[in-house]
Amino acid sequence: MKVLREIDQVNTLISEWKKNGYTIGFVPTMGYLHEGHIRLIEEAKKENDKVILSIFVNPLQFGEGEDLDTYPRDEDRDRNAAEENGVDLVFLPTPGTMYPQPLSVLMTVTSRTNVLCGKSRPGHFDGVVTVLTKLFNITRPDNVYFGMKDAQQVAVVDALIKDYNIPVHLIPVPTVREQDGLAKSSRNVRLSDEERKEAPAIQESLQYGRKLVKEGQKSKELIIEATEKFLEQKTRGKIDYIELLSYPELESIENIDRPVILAAAVFYDHVRLIDNVVFNHDGHVIYG
Ligand code: PAF
Repeated sequence: MKVLREIDQVNTLISEWKKNGYTIGFVPTMGYLHEGHIRLIEEAKKENDKVILSIFVNPLQFGEGEDLDTYPRDEDRDRNAAEENGVDLVFLPTPGTMYPQPLSVLMTVTSRTNVLCGKSRPGHFDGVVTVLTKLFNITRPDNVYFGMKDAQQVAVVDALIKDYNIPVHLIPVPTVREQDGLAKSSRNVRLSDEERKEAPAIQESLQYGRKLVKEGQKSKELIIEATEKFLEQKTRGKIDYIELLSYPELESIENIDRPVILAAAVFYDHVRLIDNVVFNHDGHVIYG
């Protein structure tokens, strides 16, 4: 496995791979790898000759007061995990390598962002599409892999790729969960024991809402209300939002007549958790 920190070095290697006709799968991450990331690497391994993993905690996507400085980092552990799982190249740039000078051309996401997490994280997705555009240009992948836990990110990347004709296939990968249903996340380590016991209720409540649709309920209002009530009874975490929107457009709808996302964010003492389920008009799961 190669570990490269400089863009020129990556360019040279990718050109060699392209010359040999290898297909390239790309897994962009901010490190502190967990099983969710490993699942993305496994999918990429299945479908490509070469797999690139990038590890870069992108300052541009963190707002003021967010956890940029305390975001968990463990380079040695990540390198070992990458090697064990057959990654061919780890790209580990520094902020100075990615942003050697202030950008002269800025990217702004104009739809799919004023809802869900985008609402409380202004500028977050601008930072995400900026770094991904750079990473796509550096790694020139055929396929790029994203976890559906960040379904809004997948929707925004879908728009980025389509709007800018980026020649890469977006492969959304279902959320990896703990035995009790809690979505795997680098941030779960910040839950207290008590919070950890309660947190699986987030996915449980979303599945409860989905089941109402399966049973024939079509009203967005009623589904959200019932999901919220269910969740409030099972956790002392403070609900940030429960939203039901069309997917991937993330537009407001009154009745469930197309694919939708039912998503929640919950504040615990030291961490805010998100989760979602994406399903059809009849409640059939697309991504859970
Ligand atoms: O999902 C993440 O970890 C980040 O948003 C990403 C896609 C690596 C961009 O920095």
